[in-house]
Amino acid sequence: MAVRTVTAEELAQQQEACRRISLLWEGKHPYACVTTYGCQQNEADSERIAGMLEQMGYTLTQDQELADLIVFNTCAVREHAELKALSKTGQLKHLKVQKPSLLIVLCGCMVQQEHRMGELKQSYPYVDAVIGTHALHRLPEILLSRITLKRRQFCIPNEDGLIAEGLPIHRQPGPKAFVSVSWGCNNFCTYCVVPHVRGRERSRQPDLIEAELRQALAQGALDITLLGQNVNSYGHDLPQHPDFASLLTRLANVEGNFRLRFMTSHPKDASVRLFEAMASSPKIMPHLHLPVQSGSSRILRRMNRGYTKEQYLALAEQARKTVPSLALTTDIIVGFPGETEEDFRDTLDVVEQVGFESAFTFIYSPRKGTPAADYEDQVPREVADERMARLLKLQETVTLRRFNEQVGKTVEVLIDTADEFGCGGRTPDFKMVHIPSCTSLRPGDFASVRITQAKLNALIGELCPRENA
Ligand code: 5AD
Ligand code: SF4
Repeated sequence: MAVRTVTAEELAQQQEACRRISLLWEGKHPYACVTTYGCQQNEADSERIAGMLEQMGYTLTQDQELADLIVFNTCAVREHAELKALSKTGQLKHLKVQKPSLLIVLCGCMVQQEHRMGELKQSYPYVDAVIGTHALHRLPEILLSRITLKRRQFCIPNEDGLIAEGLPIHRQPGPKAFVSVSWGCNNFCTYCVVPHVRGRERSRQPDLIEAELRQALAQGALDITLLGQNVNSYGHDLPQHPDFASLLTRLANVEGNFRLRFMTSHPKDASVRLFEAMASSPKIMPHLHLPVQSGSSRILRRMNRGYTKEQYLALAEQARKTVPSLALTTDIIVGFPGETEEDFRDTLDVVEQVGFESAFTFIYSPRKGTPAADYEDQVPREVADERMARLLKLQETVTLRRFNEQVGKTVEVLIDTADEFGCGGRTPDFKMVHIPSCTSLRPGDFASVRITQAKLNALIGELCPRENA
């Protein structure tokens, strides 16, 4: 696949479209509302969408009623995500009736699927523009066409392999920031729609990643998450073949007091080099999100995951051995086609043996165009539901066990929420901590906190009097 970077001329063309849109307002003050569905990659894309909208003269709002433009950045990973975006789109119809000048734009993974196009054209006539994942940077030009030509716009090019650098970014306020290291995915897990809607993996130039990280730090970010569908295969497509471990080390050497995280790590590409890089810098947080998906080697093979149960267990052990006080979290799919009771017990066994701090658990959702959707041995919903209930129960026990190990310890918390009832933040290993009735801290503060209690979703703590005096 040929990778192509959006040229300076193309970017200038988009900026010109922004300028022309901004001239249309004639003293009016238009508002835009961007809603994100799905993963952090989508959140990062939404920050670019918001950046472009600002250049068009829009002020960002979370209030749909106030908005002159509504953008839904959609997800397609599970059916539930699509149904939600479609039903929320349906609810916009009455807003359009109240305010006919309202513009409605859909973009993201859901709309990149061919089979959605006809439906959006026919059944959602009040949607003004539909923009596929490979055309996001063309939002200004597409909006301008919608406004000036007064025709609905559908732009879903199949231009896989495009890199759009240099887009403006409107970051969410607060200490957290996302920086993408790559886009797309080459793995084709048999259940997953991502490679079909986001295209092949493209790594970004290390210099540009570092520049974006520095920009985020300059804007006040303190907790940076590097994003990629599979960060561990970073760099294979770049001239010098830099690997992710070396990128991580390079970024950790950027001056300043900040935290560095990353996700997602594919177990088949996670290496000792990565764990050693994590252990080598106090800025790289001891948290590894390592999706196992299933504990059964037979199911893992059918999922095209590229590792066995035993290899995963060995990797998790190696990671824990190399990185002191590492927290391991994971993703698990229940009810993948052909999953037997015995396969499922292997999943429970991995949860027990690894002792994940927490797990995102999903019931398998067939995705059009993926191989697993056509497998004949789909698991009945009630069987999957029953397994899910057992998995959740076990994971709760394991989480509580892990969290209880923290009670009595003193940890450094980066505060990200604060109100009159108290404040909260994250530990280095990404556990949420609530500090009830502490009103002296603000988002962005670091605090030494003694953990007093473990709950299922969070730890409870109190400020250490001496260190925070
Ligand atoms: N059904 C259920 N879960 C899925 N995931 C991806 N595709 C599917 C699907 N078709 C889950 C995987 C992945 C996470 C982001 O979403 O666990 O790691
Ligand atoms: Fe989907 Fe697998 Fe790629 Fe993750 S690694 S995005 S699960 S295909």
